[in-house]
Amino acid sequence: MAVSLVTKYVKDFVAPHELEGIAPQVKAAHDTLHTKSGLGNDFLGWVDLPNSYDKEEFSRIKTAAKWIQQNADVLIVIGIGGSYLGARAAIELLRSPFYNNLKKDTPDIYFCGNNISPTYLNEILSICQGKDVAVNIISKSGTTTEPALAFRVFRELLEERYGKEGAKERIFATTDKARGTLKELSDREGYQTFVIPDDVGGRFSVLTAVGLLPIAVSGADIDKIMAGASDATRAYNDCDLSRNDCYLYAALRNILFRKGKKMEILVTYDPSFTLMGEWFKQLFGESEGKDNKGLYPSSVTFSTDLHSLGQFIQEGSRIMFETVVNIKRPKQDFFIKNDEQNFDGLNFLSNQNMSVVNEKAMKGTVLAHTEGGVPNLMLDVDEIDEYTFGWLVYFFEKACAISAYLLGVNPFNQPGVESYKKNMFALLGKPGYEDMKAALEEKLR
Ligand code: PA5
Repeated sequence: MAVSLVTKYVKDFVAPHELEGIAPQVKAAHDTLHTKSGLGNDFLGWVDLPNSYDKEEFSRIKTAAKWIQQNADVLIVIGIGGSYLGARAAIELLRSPFYNNLKKDTPDIYFCGNNISPTYLNEILSICQGKDVAVNIISKSGTTTEPALAFRVFRELLEERYGKEGAKERIFATTDKARGTLKELSDREGYQTFVIPDDVGGRFSVLTAVGLLPIAVSGADIDKIMAGASDATRAYNDCDLSRNDCYLYAALRNILFRKGKKMEILVTYDPSFTLMGEWFKQLFGESEGKDNKGLYPSSVTFSTDLHSLGQFIQEGSRIMFETVVNIKRPKQDFFIKNDEQNFDGLNFLSNQNMSVVNEKAMKGTVLAHTEGGVPNLMLDVDEIDEYTFGWLVYFFEKACAISAYLLGVNPFNQPGVESYKKNMFALLGKPGYEDMKAALEEKLR
């Protein structure tokens, strides 16, 4: 298995009979998911996506990626939430957090439209000066404010620089197959479009064109990603906890939650995994956090954050557990040489690979944190490659759906996201929000 769950560090916190106790609920959640009889059952396209994806579109994605690689110095990926995080996480993990600074024959990739900061936008615009640019606008609804605003700016830039016909070649739109402003605009202007299937929600869409086009542009192998995810669909299809690490993980996090561990911290010891933590937070946060329920998902990169949040985790409020992603073989190692003079007193680290030091830091921390009352789950990952990335994506997606069903919430909606939008629209004077505007301004006075 590309990924396996290690449970020995939760033994002091969860007894075997507790797993026996929750097993029937996990089976019920599995049946609910697979018989498509639960909340949000019209958003289950991701469950078999790694096997049933549209092969014709997949091949168009590869062709488009090649075109972008040959014709652009910079790809601007415009999107937010599920239309952004997966691709960025994949590129940092599979290529590098320093991807844009690497010597490479693929374009630099910048992510835009995931905030409303004018400084951020101006900086990306200035990076684009004198460079050939292509744009991938990604929005399922086609109406989300942040990406729509950024796209307005980049469309104008491309049309000024390349003319309407030239711009048309350089804009790739990933959106709904039939509905929405972006789809209408794309059809009118003749942009090449890719589809986010109706039954795949934003945060479950990284294995569609949403993630695959930018990932393919970065040079990562998307066939291998789909192969990993496809094998994971078969590995995690058994509702017996002793044979399904994905369900075991969902069960354990739910047991810990019911014991007062209200927060899960995803831990990595490799900065290339940091954005996977952001993707994980969005996946679980938007899926579970509703009806006044849910685990609060958080993430850290150690050993960096051992010098910040480490103190809290060791001795602060006992409200969390950790899930440590243990990458067993780093992409590259570094041999630490002996220094005869040993002024820094570090020769006890010499004559071995740095990965050994990182591993000892991890093991020492796991022991210290469990000792301090923080249960640790561990996900062993042999090595990072495209296959494992696809596998991990499916592992977390399925664990997330089962976890949400265990909580009794709809994993696939996000009603709470509307509240900020309504207030923002009202305060900005969007037509139709006039009454609300007055009331909000009164509150702000
Ligand atoms: O998971 C989700 O559904 C959300 O995070 C969306 O991906 C996000 O709000 C962006 O939506 P859209 O793709 O419609 O612009």
